[in-house]
Amino acid sequence: MDDAKGPSELAEEDEFQRMRELGDFMIYRSAINKLADGEWSDEEAKFNLGPLKPSLIGEDHRLPAMPEKPTLVDFFKLRFGPSKQHLLQSAALAQKNDLPEKMILACLLHDVSVIAFFRPDHGYWGAQMLEPYVDEEVSWAIRMHQALRFFPDESVGYEYPEAYAKRFGEDYQVEPYIQRDYDYARNHKWYMSARQICLNDLYAFDPDTLVSIDQFEDIIGQHFKQPDEGLGNDNTPASHMWRTLRRPANAL
Ligand SMILES: [Fe+2]
Ligand SMILES: [Fe+2]
Repeated sequence: MDDAKGPSELAEEDEFQRMRELGDFMIYRSAINKLADGEWSDEEAKFNLGPLKPSLIGEDHRLPAMPEKPTLVDFFKLRFGPSKQHLLQSAALAQKNDLPEKMILACLLHDVSVIAFFRPDHGYWGAQMLEPYVDEEVSWAIRMHQALRFFPDESVGYEYPEAYAKRFGEDYQVEPYIQRDYDYARNHKWYMSARQICLNDLYAFDPDTLVSIDQFEDIIGQHFKQPDEGLGNDNTPASHMWRTLRRPANAL
């Protein structure tokens, strides 16, 4: 009953209504982003839910609108940033090197997590995002390229990336799980598929070449199981990741 509400409560409700009408929504940043930016506080006293404000839920109008039933190509065009060129150039190189179509798709998607989701453990996240939609060998190779990148293979001319020595230091030692997964992958029947990703990855940055996703539409059509309901509207163990990508700032 309104009569029971005090003036401050009524004013708050009024403001809530006004913010909603103006489309003025609270945009929350996910905890993982705050943590990554060092915005961490362990002072319990600072914990405060704050006043309830209209919060973003549903389509994010700051971002390009997506079709009702988005496809992988829609995500490429509308959600992946400019660094998607790395994926496109890697796939173009794989095409030039006459790799099988399935492997061209693997190169096209190998860093999907870095481009669109999370950087840490990107091979593992990327494989999970793709598993329901691609051949098992493709997601396996994407998962394992993360470990293989740190280990040279002279038999195919793959050297330890110079950039890693510069970025992580000459004396960088991989973590035990990377060593473990490398040892496992080294003796696996699909080892060379993961290695092919590394081989077509390293030299793929060229700021003067712009590759379009349209070039790969046939390969995607053949080898990516696009769900009829739209990527994210379907019900696989990875659908929620695509939904998050579509609406990355949803309050919940
Ligand atoms: Fe990678
Ligand atoms: Fe890469």
